[in-house]
Amino acid sequence: MALEETDLKIEKSVFGTTSNGEQVDKYVLKNQNGMEVAVITYGGIITSWTAADKEGVYKDVVLGLDSLSDYENGSPYFGAIIGRYGNRIANGKFELEGKEYDLAKNNAPNHLHGGDKGFDKVIWQAQEIDEGDSHKLKLTYLSKDGDEGYPGNLNTTVTYTLTPEDELKVKYEATTDKTTIVNLTQHSYFNLSADFDNSIVDQKVMINADRFLPVNETLIPTGELRNVEGTPFDFRNLKPIKADINTENEQIKRGGGYDHCWVLNNQKDGVRLAASAYDPGSGRLLEVFTDEPGIQLYTGNFLDGTLPQKGGAGNYEKRSGFCLETQHYPDSPNQPEFPSTDLNPGETYTSQTSFKFSVK
Ligand code: GLA
Repeated sequence: MALEETDLKIEKSVFGTTSNGEQVDKYVLKNQNGMEVAVITYGGIITSWTAADKEGVYKDVVLGLDSLSDYENGSPYFGAIIGRYGNRIANGKFELEGKEYDLAKNNAPNHLHGGDKGFDKVIWQAQEIDEGDSHKLKLTYLSKDGDEGYPGNLNTTVTYTLTPEDELKVKYEATTDKTTIVNLTQHSYFNLSADFDNSIVDQKVMINADRFLPVNETLIPTGELRNVEGTPFDFRNLKPIKADINTENEQIKRGGGYDHCWVLNNQKDGVRLAASAYDPGSGRLLEVFTDEPGIQLYTGNFLDGTLPQKGGAGNYEKRSGFCLETQHYPDSPNQPEFPSTDLNPGETYTSQTSFKFSVK
């Protein structure tokens, strides 16, 4: 049933209290079709997100946890904003303007997703903005000079906008007072069947990329941009994730499945279609648009059946969710051939990604 215009709002409630006694709020963005996106101020985490199946039934399609303590006690970045640097930096080191910086090696021997206390574990300030029939939640966070070893006071804004087209737009902005590096992303794990007992390997993926970045044993790009043709990494046409995921292939073995960054086509075009995912059973189609040069497909290879599903059903087994993380390439600060992730004072970092749902 379509909602009345007056029902369209952002609902706010208390989600929980951190172990340090800080209050965490939950905002639910709703549109007129029935899509609901719940966001908490801890990590800017999307804890649930409903999308319609071919019968028009909206169900939750993202992995998440029930309580704040579950998130604090160890979430594999479910639904979180990732910063200051999404993905890996080799040996937790980089050099900027002749100075070497040391970061946490929280994914030994490398730095991953911003370190020990990245943007996924901090409390964001939230502001609701109603703009016609779109609903926005603006999250801001000031990461202080030296936070997790990164230089510069980084003023960060992430705005989630839910549109009447069942599209969630994510806009990232940041400014600094010292030269630094930035690479922000969103780490939602999708299972388009809305049944977290189902493996995602039956779902299909398309990635608009002719090349991908092969990695070494510790998942750092080797620097090569390899053609996908004739490899398990060819997703130029929608293909079931399972089609090649068990192929005898060195890169698949290193990732334990897919855990790689693709070099997106048409990088000069601004926001364009980067990837799509389709669940034949439910008919749900997800399209991901971005202005970023890369996208990481991660197939939930490290999920191991220990984390409980929402609502106390079962546990999240290996491959019960996939991520499509739009980003600059991993380890860019150490790989001068890659598009730069440097941000200077006076400049504004901007990045845009949108996730659009429909049925097919
Ligand atoms: C990213 C990484 C993966 C893994 C997940 C979180 O996608 O590339 O290797 O760390 O985050 O578990």
